[in-house]
Amino acid sequence: MKLLVTGGAGFIGSHAVLEFLLAGHDVLSLDNYSNSSPEALKRVAKLAGRAPEVLEGDLRDEALLLALMREKRFDAVVHFAGLKAVGESVEKPLIYVDNNIVGSAHLLKAMKDVGCKNLVFSSSCTVYGMPQKNPIGEDHPRSALNPYGRSKLVIEDMCFDLARSESGWHMALLRYFNPVGAHDSGDIGEDPRGIPNNLVPFVMQTAVGRHPHVNVWGKDYPTPDGTGIRDYIHVVDLAKAHLAAVERIASFNGAEPVNLGTGKGYSVLDVISAAGKAAGKDIPYKVGPRRAGDAPEVWGNPSLAAKKLGWTCEKGLGEMVADHWRWQKKNPEGYKAG
Ligand SMILES: NC(=O)c1ccc[n+]([C@@H]2O[C@H](COP(=O)([O-])OP(=O)(O)OC[C@H]3O[C@@H](n4cnc5c(N)ncnc54)[C@H](O)[C@@H]3O)[C@@H](O)[C@H]2O)c1
Repeated sequence: MKLLVTGGAGFIGSHAVLEFLLAGHDVLSLDNYSNSSPEALKRVAKLAGRAPEVLEGDLRDEALLLALMREKRFDAVVHFAGLKAVGESVEKPLIYVDNNIVGSAHLLKAMKDVGCKNLVFSSSCTVYGMPQKNPIGEDHPRSALNPYGRSKLVIEDMCFDLARSESGWHMALLRYFNPVGAHDSGDIGEDPRGIPNNLVPFVMQTAVGRHPHVNVWGKDYPTPDGTGIRDYIHVVDLAKAHLAAVERIASFNGAEPVNLGTGKGYSVLDVISAAGKAAGKDIPYKVGPRRAGDAPEVWGNPSLAAKKLGWTCEKGLGEMVADHWRWQKKNPEGYKAG
């Protein structure tokens, strides 16, 4: 298949582009590199033995998207591009409207214009808001806790509305839980700009001495060790789920959400301890107060993904942190040195 991948140089996008290339698909990555490096796709090309087409450009450039869709006639679009920092979205909500919502609207308009009606979209478990119960199924009520979450809700709603308005759309709205890890070569991985928002990159940067300790926000939750529990998913498993979604896109009738997680939760202290084992050293941490808006436990029910995609996670927490550590050790400053 001929695929347009938006945000192909990002953390999840680069791993997915690799799986698409290895499976024989042709890829064009459109990325403005606002949170990534072109180096990621150079390394993907080496690992795959062939290169994706690469275009530097912005989703908000409506004319560019239209021209690209008209010229290339893609079979499907895999839409990763977007901003994802919750704290930043609270401080600068309009940037999230512009980049995520307006950018996605341009993409959908360009797809509609050329009749390309196959889409795989990066949604998130954040659309479930504060969980009412675990594990979370796709029928759990949706709500937004912050502007980032709202951008995912609105984009999902645009997809639902569009699919209802005319027939022929096939849209997989993939709701990721917590993607971590890296390709087992250690050559591609997560390279967050500035201070990482997510636990695992922060823990790994602490292990290489970039931070004095990990902050554990709350140790008095009603969980076995008192720290928050999340459903972590290895990024290579996640990338393979995208391959399955692309190849089975015709089985999505209209816009359908699917959870992507392992269905198993790990606590913050489980992660710090597993990462310490992978790195061969104790990782220092300090317990602080709970953060407003953090749920005690969030883990998903992945059974629909197994049924719809014929896919299940293969990698557990040990491999997630071992692979993340290999990437971090080989690339202590991320792609900068590449
Ligand atoms: N990583 C997570 O924890 C997580 C969880 C749930 C959902 N998601 C979603 O998955 C997608 C990919 O996440 P990621 O972790 O790979 O993030 P990332 O920041 O590494 O990748 C996003 C990519 O999109 C590009 N981009 C951003 N805005 C753009 C624009 N306007 N035009 C062109 N390119 C643009 C960035 O440069 C980057 O390469 C995002 O939509 C994110 O919201 C991520």
